[in-house]
Amino acid sequence: MNVLRNLALLACAVSLASSATLDHPEVSSSKQRFQGSQVLRAFASTPSQVSLLGTLQNGNNELDFWTEPRLNGFTDIMAEGASLQDLKTVLEKHQIPFHVSIGDVDKLVLEEEARRAAKLGHLRLQTERNLIDWSEYYSLEAIENWLVSVGQNNSNVQIITIGESTQGRNITLAKISNGDGNSTKPAIFITANIHAREWISSAAATYMIDQLVHNSSAHPDILDSVDFYILPVINPDGFAFSHSTNRMWRKTRSNHQSALGCIGADANRNFDFKWSNGDVSGSSGDKCSETYRGPEAFSEPEAAAIRDFVTANAKEVNWAVYITLHSYGQYFLAPWGYTQGLPENYDALKSLSDVASKALWDKHGTNFTTGASSVVLYFTDGTDQDWALGSGFFPYSYTMELRDTGRYGFVLPAEQIVPCSEETFEAIKVVARNKY
Ligand SMILES: *[C@@H]1O[C@H](CO)[C@@H](O)[C@H](O)[C@H]1NC(C)=O
Ligand SMILES: *[C@@H]1O[C@H](CO)[C@@H](O)[C@H](O)[C@H]1NC(C)=O
Ligand SMILES: *[C@@H]1O[C@H](CO)[C@@H](O)[C@H](O)[C@H]1NC(C)=O
Ligand SMILES: *[C@@H]1O[C@H](CO)[C@@H](O)[C@H](O)[C@H]1NC(C)=O
Ligand SMILES: *[C@@H]1O[C@H](CO)[C@@H](O)[C@H](O)[C@H]1NC(C)=O
Ligand SMILES: [Zn+2]
Repeated sequence: MNVLRNLALLACAVSLASSATLDHPEVSSSKQRFQGSQVLRAFASTPSQVSLLGTLQNGNNELDFWTEPRLNGFTDIMAEGASLQDLKTVLEKHQIPFHVSIGDVDKLVLEEEARRAAKLGHLRLQTERNLIDWSEYYSLEAIENWLVSVGQNNSNVQIITIGESTQGRNITLAKISNGDGNSTKPAIFITANIHAREWISSAAATYMIDQLVHNSSAHPDILDSVDFYILPVINPDGFAFSHSTNRMWRKTRSNHQSALGCIGADANRNFDFKWSNGDVSGSSGDKCSETYRGPEAFSEPEAAAIRDFVTANAKEVNWAVYITLHSYGQYFLAPWGYTQGLPENYDALKSLSDVASKALWDKHGTNFTTGASSVVLYFTDGTDQDWALGSGFFPYSYTMELRDTGRYGFVLPAEQIVPCSEETFEAIKVVARNKY
């Protein structure tokens, strides 16, 4: 059943062009194109409008929700062809204001590809020397080779494989410590790219590794007070797929035997803390949904790898802060996602994120909004953010949604990698200098 189509037909008597057939990117061997795809930005101002958007999201695989439905805030939805027309009809009928926020998604993706293709020689050369820079988005292989090389060249960096993805790829982090043997230092665990299409998140993560390792004289106090564990790509299968086949891929690449052939789960709905159990549903049981929580908690080896690493080291490492990097929206979010009730230490969480966001703003004038994720944005359950705090492993846990606010969304131009990473690192330095 196609909820969108039915609602659109109800909304308008004239019959519309027949809806495009379901498109399963994994079936196609070539790269997914986005001809005619637009992103609509809708503003729901009543609970019933939010629930209508939720119905559209759950009942229709042709709509790609770039952000989750929420009250008195924007919801970005990508659609094309007849679905786009149907969506506009439904929004108008329910008096949900909207505008086109990205008029031509395909153009953005093609521009990104063309720029990377033009730089291919440069990228290959860099990669052969195990180098990356932050003028471009690099492939998984390049990031992995670089990580290994940084580990080989620097005695204060340890490269640790914490698990394997569904398709057997390594899940690899860098431990950066000044090697003074002080294992009681507070440890900051930064993870990124659990959602495959959010490329800026891993770019910012590798930038911070580089700054901590190769520019330590600019901030010598940091590694004297804390250790860093930085995992640039939590979801390597999805990340590789977003490069090879579908730029808008979000989930993992696991196969949970969906009748419709849908692949993957949202690893960021797959942790066991409040899995499937939020006050208001913040994940989906539909295998085709972008927020499919998986058949059970930790069904995804990528989520399980984080749990296993944190758990195995809980005695030796003084886990203090967990920060997971996403895009987009410019938010510095604290728990909870599953309830609008606040954590016991919310005041401390909030004030640290406020100070960090101020430092971030000071760098390039980029505005981040702080607060509890369920309050500022929408409900989520089974997230790593809630798990990190709720499991008791980390007293501080955050989600950062990096640039931008929707002009480019996931296709953030490569020129913004450096400024975005710089400002993010300013915030992380504030977090590192906090007393734990
Ligand atoms: C590590 O050192 C080698 C040899 O000097 C160099 O070729 C390589 O690029 C270095 N790797 C990184 C990540 O700097
Ligand atoms: C995966 O990690 C293991 C252990 O660190 C390493 O020996 C192996 O070469 C890695 N595999 C790939 C494909 O990088
Ligand atoms: C090193 O850090 C300083 C201070 O943040 C910054 O101004 C400088 O650009 C950095 N150097 C490099 C090579 O990134
Ligand atoms: C180890 O690091 C912690 C946190 O920075 C610090 O409070 C403590 O004094 C250090 N211990 C030693 C022996 O250096
Ligand atoms: C930053 O964002 C907040 C919350 O969305 C808004 O109230 C404020 O006006 C913004 N500030 C600037 C300088 O854009
Ligand atoms: Zn995300």
